[in-house]
Amino acid sequence: MQAQANSYAERFANMVKHLSDVDPAVVRKEESIKTTSPYQERVHIEPHSGTQSDPNGFAFFNGQYHLFYQWTPLAFAQPSIWHHGWYHLASSDLVHWQQLGGAIESDTKYDKHGTYSGSGIAVGDKLFLMYTGNTWTKDWQRVPYQLGAVMDKNGKFAKDPQPLISGPLAGYTGHFRDPKVWQATDGKYYAVLGAQRQNLTGSALVYTSSNLTEWQPLGEIKTHTPNFGFMWECPDYFEIDGQGVLLFSPQGLQPEGDKYQNIYQTGVFVGAPLNMRTLEFNHGQFQELDAGFDFYATQTILAPDGRRILTAWFGLPEMDYATDQYHYSGALVFPRELSLVNGQVRQQPVREIDALRHNEQNIDAKVGPRYELSRGPVQEFKLNVNIGDAARVIIDLRADQNNEHSTRLIIDKKNQRIVLNRSKSGAAFNKANGTVRERQLHIDEDVSLDIIMDTSSVEIFVNGGALVFSARIFPGANQVHNFIQTVSGTSTIKGHSWTLAE
Ligand code: FRU
Repeated sequence: MQAQANSYAERFANMVKHLSDVDPAVVRKEESIKTTSPYQERVHIEPHSGTQSDPNGFAFFNGQYHLFYQWTPLAFAQPSIWHHGWYHLASSDLVHWQQLGGAIESDTKYDKHGTYSGSGIAVGDKLFLMYTGNTWTKDWQRVPYQLGAVMDKNGKFAKDPQPLISGPLAGYTGHFRDPKVWQATDGKYYAVLGAQRQNLTGSALVYTSSNLTEWQPLGEIKTHTPNFGFMWECPDYFEIDGQGVLLFSPQGLQPEGDKYQNIYQTGVFVGAPLNMRTLEFNHGQFQELDAGFDFYATQTILAPDGRRILTAWFGLPEMDYATDQYHYSGALVFPRELSLVNGQVRQQPVREIDALRHNEQNIDAKVGPRYELSRGPVQEFKLNVNIGDAARVIIDLRADQNNEHSTRLIIDKKNQRIVLNRSKSGAAFNKANGTVRERQLHIDEDVSLDIIMDTSSVEIFVNGGALVFSARIFPGANQVHNFIQTVSGTSTIKGHSWTLAE
């Protein structure tokens, strides 16, 4: 984590603008420490070193998907060296990623204390990037700038010399960031930004531009929630099947029953399309996108074939992870396709996952006592669980041979609940934030599951992605078994498993 030095001078004393100014031996050493980690993901994006957080600049440009993330490469090695930037990846299929190295760096007076989150849109032969430059005054006031940059077809970046938007709009604090830009059918560009009002409540603002250089504020999206957390990070607005979706990460919601259990939340309002003239947005209840432990700061893209694809930080701010000891942390969730069913969001792993599937096994079993599914740490299970007369079905993922340690999913028909328990998953971390996440679920006969397990993570898509649980886990090397059993009764399990590999 970043060392929080007390004085401004101390904190930024050893600031380097460019990673290339750091002794290459230091960078290589960090990367080599990571290679000793037993927790390295195989089919998820994670950094070579340092901390990784929000996905940024997700766009389709020049025949490829481009994706960036927030990256502080020396966060563990030399926290006193302040270097923060975007890391760049590209892919033709969303599942095989080319690592392209550092991209935007914190090297101008407008972004000197952080090239914060932002987005990308292909315009002609350039990828236009709009992001927040963070700066601090000497008395620790944030002064944010919304900045522009372009990447050309050769992967060369050029920043706009002047900010597109300087400082916060009147009525808002310095928490004013994360522009997500899109082009509407009227041909104009719009950007939605996360903001904090002077009264310390969160909101989303819309700006518009006809040329991506001059931006005018249109105002706040008029939601039905004047008091919903203290800050909305990483907002995004898009439409699916003629309905409007406002996606954002509110900070400051209090736990409410099973909901809002993590330090910060991410979810959507779904409603009639946003009125771009009045910014009125007539929407329903906030829907949390993930019922698990580690999910934040989403970003979506409209794929060339019309699918709305989402990715997110597979982590949360202010948490420690078991990879920290290997000098890296963070990952991105597996990309997901979004759809709406009766106004409710569904998420499913992108269909391109098929390219990673090997060793297909058929599963067709009547299950009572413990039954072993295919073995291995990096697997996908696509199962239909017909509960039958069982009271509960228990799935132990990444278990040791005697099933003393595992990540446990319980489908509890009796209580109509589904429960994910990581208290015995492996190396302990973030215990203070709880080790169990659960939801009410209507359980009648069949529950469908699509489970993606990587070396140190699990994502569980329930009933076609109507409910999703994502969790980082840090199992021991002997935890390669995957079991299923029932409590009082017999269930029928049908489906497939695969080993996932690039
Ligand atoms: C969300 C966030 C964004 C900000 C970025 C800085 O995790 O706080 O609001 O732009 O991270 O890294």
